[in-house]
Amino acid sequence: MADPQWQFIGEEDTLSKKRCQRLFAESGKDDDIALFYTEGKFYALEAWCQHQGGPLFSGDIEDLKGTSIKAVQCPWHGYKFKLEDGENTNIPGLNQKKYDVKCEEGKVYVDCTHKLSTQEVRS
Ligand code: FES
Repeated sequence: MADPQWQFIGEEDTLSKKRCQRLFAESGKDDDIALFYTEGKFYALEAWCQHQGGPLFSGDIEDLKGTSIKAVQCPWHGYKFKLEDGENTNIPGLNQKKYDVKCEEGKVYVDCTHKLSTQEVRS
């Protein structure tokens, strides 16, 4: 496995104010990431739904039925993806890529090789 490429995203105080947000990739929209925050923890998945491209950063975070497992529900057709690993709970194998996230001394980092920003910088 490749060494982690921890990329600073922002301050935990700021990023934890939103449950879902989009991280913009300099390399293009297809590389965008959805950053989630719930119950004191950050998660990151690729931003666009594997089903038909819905924006997961506009989805709702819910507990999977009868569990405390957190999932995001795609706003387009309602498929759910586990935040911890991107697994689709509706269609086996239709999973989102997951990115590791860490917090250190109030700063949030995502393990990602492409450059990300909390604001759209692309033209
Ligand atoms: Fe996400 Fe269809 S595009 S469930």
